[in-house]
Amino acid sequence: MLSIEENEKLAKIGRGTAMGELIRRYWMPFRLSSDLPEADGEPVRVTLLGESLVAFRDTSGKVCLIQRHCAHRWSDLFYGRNEEGGLRCTYHGWKYDGAGNCVDMPTETEESSYKDKIRITAYPVKESGGVLWTYMGPPGLAAEMPEFEYLKVPESHRFVSWNWQENNFAQAIEGGIDSAHSNFLHATLDAYHRTDAWLAKGERTRRMRDLYHARDQHPKFFAEDTDYGVMTGARRETGEGQHYWRFNLFLMPFYTMPPSAQKQKFFHAFVPIDDENVQRWTFTWSLESPLPAEQVDEWRVGAGLHAALQPGPDHVPVQNRSNDYLIDRERQRTSTFTGITGIGDQDFSVQEGMGRLTPRQNEHLGTTDVGIIKMRRRLLRDATALEDGDEPRSAADGGLYHLRATDILLEPEASWMDDARVKELMTATW
Ligand code: FES
Ligand SMILES: [Fe+2]
Repeated sequence: MLSIEENEKLAKIGRGTAMGELIRRYWMPFRLSSDLPEADGEPVRVTLLGESLVAFRDTSGKVCLIQRHCAHRWSDLFYGRNEEGGLRCTYHGWKYDGAGNCVDMPTETEESSYKDKIRITAYPVKESGGVLWTYMGPPGLAAEMPEFEYLKVPESHRFVSWNWQENNFAQAIEGGIDSAHSNFLHATLDAYHRTDAWLAKGERTRRMRDLYHARDQHPKFFAEDTDYGVMTGARRETGEGQHYWRFNLFLMPFYTMPPSAQKQKFFHAFVPIDDENVQRWTFTWSLESPLPAEQVDEWRVGAGLHAALQPGPDHVPVQNRSNDYLIDRERQRTSTFTGITGIGDQDFSVQEGMGRLTPRQNEHLGTTDVGIIKMRRRLLRDATALEDGDEPRSAADGGLYHLRATDILLEPEASWMDDARVKELMTATW
């Protein structure tokens, strides 16, 4: 558990808060490139870290991210005219470029230099991997883009989506690194009851995950700080001498990378919209061949970790809190643990069900929560260090993110963090 004060420090991300300042040290994804498809197209409202912004693709095709409100009398620039390299306020025609400069002020005389004194907030934007990234921290710092392998593979090898989620970013991260919940939340009833048919399936497929999940439902958890964040290991007995390990990574300041199928990987980003809402990003990439077209078609309309979305700019899931995630109680009785379809949607139901900010002072943590405890401590420690003037090193070293999460069989005496094969499997190669 955390005290009320620690919980607020962990969760609140407005400008000037400890966590808000820490997260502003990092480049972060905020929209898909396809959310702003054309030059001089429609602007999009963006709220990030509690700041009201508007994004637009200018005449040259460059995406700009500026303060949503006009410096004159605060009109909403979302309604602005996107024209000739800038966004023009519809109230009295003041116009801003992507750097936030007021470049035209038709209400003043030609000779007036007043416009040269007017500047609104603007943040730099990079486009990479079909995603728009921004940096909202102090301009002088050497923040680097995280060098995720996803960003290096060909376009045919990757797929990304994001959706709106109605809870604080920190409890979403906790869901991302919580290896214990898949035996329940995401399980079929056969798996939950460990039926003979399900155990036999594990033996039959000989896939490590199925086999050892079936044999040992009480993994032992370990967690250690690393230069990129926190590495959590879940160790299962195989009954054959070796241990089956699954590694789950937390990467500063809001990424999670669970172990996944050998040839296909994914990670999440949980980007705070404000104190009570988060963008949940799912990045998927293939290590060798292009992603199968049928699979991508399924993801586009919502499947697996990529949630089905309502039309519109805010990427609101079809299954959400307002309709109880379309829970089917009959299926819950007869077929799956939750009765909710979709892995992502199952996650939303528990993370949003905690409330916008979960009251961590009320928790009773168990042995499976060691990674979550480490992650919280890491975020709080780095936020406190920054208050004392120590910049987070991971923000300035994109190479730390060139990683894969993995699972592996290890001899009992092997060191789970330092084993050479673990290191090799975790190193990205693109
Ligand atoms: S409020 Fe924008 S130009 Fe007047
Ligand atoms: Fe989950």
